[in-house]
Amino acid sequence: MQLRVLGSAAGGGFPQWNCNCPNCDGFRRSSIAAQPRTQSSIAVTDNGQDWLLVNASPDVLTQIRANPELQPARAVRDSAIAAVLLMDAQIDHVTGLLMLRERHSPLPLLATPEVLSDLEEGFPITRVLSHYCGVKALPLQPDGGLQDVPGLPGLQVRPVVLSSKPPPYSAFRNHPRPGDNIGLVIENPASQTRVFYAPGLGEVTPFLMELMATCQIVLVDGTFWSDDEMQRFGLSKKTATDMGHLPQSGPLGMIAHLDRLPAGVRKILIHINNTNPILREDSAERALLAGRGIEVAWDGMDLFF
Ligand code: MLT
Ligand code: MN
Ligand code: ZN
Repeated sequence: MQLRVLGSAAGGGFPQWNCNCPNCDGFRRSSIAAQPRTQSSIAVTDNGQDWLLVNASPDVLTQIRANPELQPARAVRDSAIAAVLLMDAQIDHVTGLLMLRERHSPLPLLATPEVLSDLEEGFPITRVLSHYCGVKALPLQPDGGLQDVPGLPGLQVRPVVLSSKPPPYSAFRNHPRPGDNIGLVIENPASQTRVFYAPGLGEVTPFLMELMATCQIVLVDGTFWSDDEMQRFGLSKKTATDMGHLPQSGPLGMIAHLDRLPAGVRKILIHINNTNPILREDSAERALLAGRGIEVAWDGMDLFF
């Protein structure tokens, strides 16, 4: 089983088009050691031919160009993307659906009923797409155990409910529902090895700690280093917590939780905001992560399990 990181940045990407924070400005001036990153998406395959796209990033066309495996050229119109699965209805995870509209058949789309309803009403992408390829909605039932993925028989997924926030445009922004945000266990049925993927994670519950301890790799929310990161740069009034993201630092932060996982679990941060100091390869924060065996995902990173 192969997992390819297509986009390791949070919404906006890195550098972000209108941002001159020390990271974005430093990257443009070549004064910092950092890699550019596209917006949040991964792809998974068990046969190297057919892939499940997890999140459809606004950068999906760039990501397809950067990953030739996604265009196997078996027919005059072709794609290796067999289905799309969404973790939530955030702009950085769904806008790429519009870029896939030239398909000749409805796009198989796995998402919770809550996410499908936001995409029908608040940001009506599926209604718009009905005038192009259309979607074949395949509702995910979180916390119901392992599910098959149509078209990808060698792969099973287990969606789990997470505490986070629906998008700002959602009618439910201030009244989150279970199913607005999911994490995903991706399992190789042959070896029963598992990856846990959760790019937006507001709270690590005891249930999630137990679940992550059963996985070989955890790929989790690396959005912000500190809760007031956006405020300190004068970029937003919102804290990480307001946005549904658990910051990495602090006694109750993501690092403290990852530290408690069994030694064999590979720990990787993903969905990294452009303000986060861990993007700088020579930063003290990056050294702190390395000292604890925590990796930072990059575009093109491959994980085999
Ligand atoms: C988030 O996860 O909070 C998003 O990256 C925000 C956005 O896309 O604007
Ligand atoms: Mn996001
Ligand atoms: Zn920035």
